This record gives sequence, structure tokens and C-alpha cells, in this order.
Amino acid sequence: TNILVIHGPNLNLLGMREPEIYGHESLQDINRELSRLANKVHAGVVFFQSNAESLLVDRIQQAMTDGTDFIIINPAAYTHTSVAMRDALAAVRIPFIEVHLSNIFSRETFRHHSYFSDMAVGVISGLGSKGYELALEYALMIRR
Ligand code: DQA
Repeated sequence: TNILVIHGPNLNLLGMREPEIYGHESLQDINRELSRLANKVHAGVVFFQSNAESLLVDRIQQAMTDGTDFIIINPAAYTHTSVAMRDALAAVRIPFIEVHLSNIFSRETFRHHSYFSDMAVGVISGLGSKGYELALEYALMIRR
């Protein structure tokens, strides 16, 4: 099983960025824990973070041919804007879970809509970094 974890814009600043909302862990901390969990069961996990919408689209497209079985994605601010990333996920037809560190429904109204949720296997929002771990656990549970 090969799992791709995609982190959208500004998530490179995790730990320093509004820690009261997004927590004190860095992106490296989160990725390290996900690697540890995947390694335990001999699954593969790779990570990609970008602040650029086009690079995120390119990476999703690449997943069509690189053996990716499942995607865990936090599109960050692009959650609320990106038809292009939505279309890329629709094109590659790889199942995905949408993760948000914060509960987007308890925040500003503009965060309540996601371009991804209706296509996702499931959505986890508000559980902090634990959300990524639970998404990974699910992906590993249904693995082929
Ligand atoms: C986020 C929520 C988004 O609204 C925001 O733009 C982010 C992070 C989250 O993980 O809580 O950058 O996706």
C-alpha cells in the first residue's frame, strides 16, 4: 500500500502559525509520526507540501501513475477555492480523506464550504494532528 499525504499552503509554518488554532507540532513532527505508523505495518507513505496550487495539481496528477493507492489531503486555504485541485482528484480517481487540523465549521463562514468534501471517502476536521493519524489508520485498515 502506498499512501500519499498532501499538505496545502501555509502548512509548512505549522507550529509557528497561530498555534492556538493549529497546534504546536511542526509539519515534520506530524510527518515523522505518520511514517512511524506506516512503517510498523510495512506500508509506504510519502509526503508533499506546497504553497503553489499548480504544484499541488501536478502532484495529484503524478499520483495517477506512481502507484499511489490512497491520498490523505489537507488542501488548507485551497479547500475553499480550488476547482483545479478538485478536478485533479476527480481525474486520478484515487480515494482520499480530507483532513483539517481545525474545525472549519466553528470558524468563519467562508471556511464552511469545501470543494472536496462531497468527493472524499470521509472528512476529519477539528482533531488537530490526530486527524492525520486517524485518516492513515483508516487507509491502512482498508488496504489492498
Ligand atoms: C485548514 C483550515 C483552512 O480553512 C485553512 O485555510 C488552513 C488550514 C486546517 O487544517 O484547519 O490553512 O485546512
